[in-house]
Amino acid sequence: MTTLNINGKSRKINLPADTPLLWALRDQLGLTGTKYGCGMALCGACTVHIDGEPTRACVTPISAVIGKKIVTIEAIEQDQTGKKVQDAWLNLGVPQCGYCQAGQVMAATALLKQHPQPSDAEIDKAMSGNLCRCGTYPRIRAAIKQAAGLPEGQS
Ligand code: FES
Ligand code: FES
Repeated sequence: MTTLNINGKSRKINLPADTPLLWALRDQLGLTGTKYGCGMALCGACTVHIDGEPTRACVTPISAVIGKKIVTIEAIEQDQTGKKVQDAWLNLGVPQCGYCQAGQVMAATALLKQHPQPSDAEIDKAMSGNLCRCGTYPRIRAAIKQAAGLPEGQS
């Protein structure tokens, strides 16, 4: 039995230590907002925060996150920056199918916590590992700018 700090609470996990965190979140704890896309750290659908760093839960073993603060999409609105990001996502109607969007919001929130007024280059760098098969990239960029209080057409 392993205890993890998830969304500010101690949660008990009964899985082998090398199990990916994503499995613990989705299958054992029912935190299904974090999505399984590729399982190979290639798409970003499974992005969570580990001590504030955007991290691919599909390739992160439970053993690597013991004692760390894990935050998932289910708790991101409790974070001031996360709430701004979610509000901007809703205002601009960013999602299409929605599958990639939890990971996008987690990546965008981590970006704005590190760079409250990001340049286009910083946005590109931070979001480049989060794929969207629906092509919502222009709205993602606009929403990040809106959450940052930047003009949305600024380049
Ligand atoms: S499911 Fe983790 S990066 Fe694709
Ligand atoms: S909204 Fe459909 S994959 Fe991104």
